[in-house]
This record gives sequence, C-alpha cells and structure tokens, in this order.
Amino acid sequence: MGRSLGVGIIGAGNMGHRHARAYAFHAPRTRLVATCDVRSDAAARLAESFGCDTAANVEALLARPDVDAVSICTPEPVHLEPLLKAAASRRHILIEKPMAVSMAEARRMKQAVEAAGVKLMVGHLFRFDRRCVAVRSALDAGRIGRLRSIDCRFHGTPAQQDRIRDFELSLIVFRGCHAIDLMRWYSESEVVRVYAEDLQGAMRARGYHSEDAVFCLMRFANGTVGSLEVNAHVPPTHPSAGRSEMVLIGEEGMLEIDLGRPWLTIAGGEAFEHGSGDQKDLWFREQIDAFARYVLDDAPCLATADDAIAALRVAVAAVESARTHAPVAVEGAS
Ligand SMILES: NC(=O)c1ccc[n+]([C@@H]2O[C@H](COP(=O)([O-])OP(=O)(O)OC[C@H]3O[C@@H](n4cnc5c(N)ncnc54)[C@H](O)[C@@H]3O)[C@@H](O)[C@H]2O)c1
Repeated sequence: MGRSLGVGIIGAGNMGHRHARAYAFHAPRTRLVATCDVRSDAAARLAESFGCDTAANVEALLARPDVDAVSICTPEPVHLEPLLKAAASRRHILIEKPMAVSMAEARRMKQAVEAAGVKLMVGHLFRFDRRCVAVRSALDAGRIGRLRSIDCRFHGTPAQQDRIRDFELSLIVFRGCHAIDLMRWYSESEVVRVYAEDLQGAMRARGYHSEDAVFCLMRFANGTVGSLEVNAHVPPTHPSAGRSEMVLIGEEGMLEIDLGRPWLTIAGGEAFEHGSGDQKDLWFREQIDAFARYVLDDAPCLATADDAIAALRVAVAAVESARTHAPVAVEGAS
C-alpha cells in the first residue's frame, strides 16, 4: 500500500457522512472511493455529496482493489457481519462504537481481525475531543494530583435511538460506552465491580426497546470510584438534551468538562477554551487522521479492540446489576 489510504464506507447514514467529510478533509492522504448501504438511495446521496462510487453491497465494495480500509457505520446490531467480511478480505477497519453488542460478538470480532492480520480501530470519538484530550494532559501534568473519583452524565433523547427502535439494546451499551471508555482512559485502571439501577417505562411506552435511564457506580482496581448516569428521557426541547458533563476530583484539585460548551474548567477559577470552532467536524477529522496514521505509518492505535471490549464488559455487568439489583463483579477484571 502507498502513502494514501483508499477507503470504503459501509453504511451511508449519519456517521457515514461524518466519516466521509473527514476523509475528504484529509485528501489525498485518505481517498474515499466507494460506499454501500442496504438503502441504495442513501448510498447514492453520500456518493453524490463526496464524489465517490456506490457499490451494490458489502461484497462488491470489498471486491474493489482500490479499497484498502473500510469505515463500518451501520447500526449497532449490524456491525458483526460487515466486520467479518472486511477482515476475511484483509481490509483494515475503523468501526463505529459500540464495537459489538455482546461479549460473544466482541470476541468473534477480535479473533477474526487477529486471524486476518488486519488493523482495527474503534470509534471512541471522545478520545479525539480536544477538551477530553486536555483533561488527559492535565492529569498527566499532575494538575489535580492523584485522581480519586469521576462523575459523568450523558443526557440523551429518544430520537437518538430511532435507528435501533426495534432492537433491545441498553443505553449503557450504546451510549454509555463513550463515558466508560473515557473513565477507563482517565483512571488508567479497570473496573472491578459495578452496582446499577435503571428507570424503565417511558421509552418502552413510546415503542423503543431500552431503559429511560441507567445509573451505575463503579469501583476501579486502583481504588478510583466512578459514577455514571446515561439517560434518554430529557425532554428534547430542554437545553441539556444530548449534552454530557464530567467532574473529576483528585487529591489536589478538580476538573469539570461541560461537553455542551467549549469549556474545560480547573477548579480554583481557572477556565480555558478548547475547540470552540466546529467541534463536530474537528473530532472526526482527528479520529480519521489517527486511523490513517495507525494504518499507513504504524502509529499506535488510539482506541483498540481491547478498549472496546473492556468498556462493553463494564456495560454488560451494569445491565446485569440493574436486572438483579445487586453488585456485579466485572468478568475478566483482575
Ligand atoms: N461516535 C459517535 O459519537 C456516534 C454518534 C452516533 C452514532 N454512532 C454510531 O454509529 C453507528 C451508526 O449510527 P448512525 O447514527 O450513523 O445510524 P444511521 O441509521 O444514520 O445510519 C446507518 C446506515 O447503515 C445502513 N445499513 C443498515 N444495515 C446495513 C448493512 N447491512 N449494510 C450496509 N448498510 C447498512 C442504514 O440503511 C443506514 O443508512 C452506530 O453504531 C452508532 O452507535 C456513533
């Protein structure tokens, strides 16, 4: 492969367009050559917007010799099949979060990728949000001393689940994975035990197949305590709908990120601005740049299959805890 990455996008919806815009931004280092979607009108729309070809299906897309890598941007329940096909045809893969919807599926994916010897990066997008990166840097610089607790809230709306309306999937699996990934990244430790409770009823009454909210306490192996609320019941017209916030407390200070605003605050009154431009495009650009560097330059993978599996393991344990109303030891954690 040359120094340019030929890419195919599988799933030409919301995320397919986001990835396409970022690949176009990095041209000619990344070249979007084709897209496919079970809805041919969706594929045609993306192809027209970004000047690439359409392929009739995943097989036809993977048959093209100019496709070195794929972005898998299909809905959560249909990540496995495109990934297995892409790995079998030895294409590198960027897959949207959550990588998988069950541990069995995640293990199969990892095995397939390793057997094929291809590279896999997972779309844990918040690792590319400049405010989130600034928090990691502040922790590295010892700005708040040893981290003791992380409190995180991801507010959502029912409409965010329209793509999986008919599929039973926990909020903590498909949205909570972002937060759990950040919490692991910041704590530099694995979750060993969770206790969760949920709210049920309003989403199901509207025809969705998930909780209204999940509340989860986590104990990390290094002693850090995490608390996560993921919800879907904020009224869509409320300014907090779709907003996320995080508070990290260390032995010598505190960090607050409001992901609805371009601010990162370090307690003590100091506040500084991060990513006040078009943050929505910026983090996708940085994610795609990291993927290209990983594939083309052998740079480290910044969001690995193991990261995705670790986050899923915590989410699955939280679902079990909410079902049984009891603390659950996280499978595989030491
Ligand atoms: N990183 C983030 O912040 C973020 C935000 C939203 C969604 N996502 C993730 O991105 C993924 C896609 O979400 P979306 O919002 O783009 O959904 P979407 O419904 O807008 O797009 C998905 C597209 O995939 C197509 N599709 C379905 N099955 C297919 C198949 N077998 N082959 C080819 N195409 C197929 C659908 O027709 C649709 O056009 C999900 O995993 C979701 O969790 C990530």
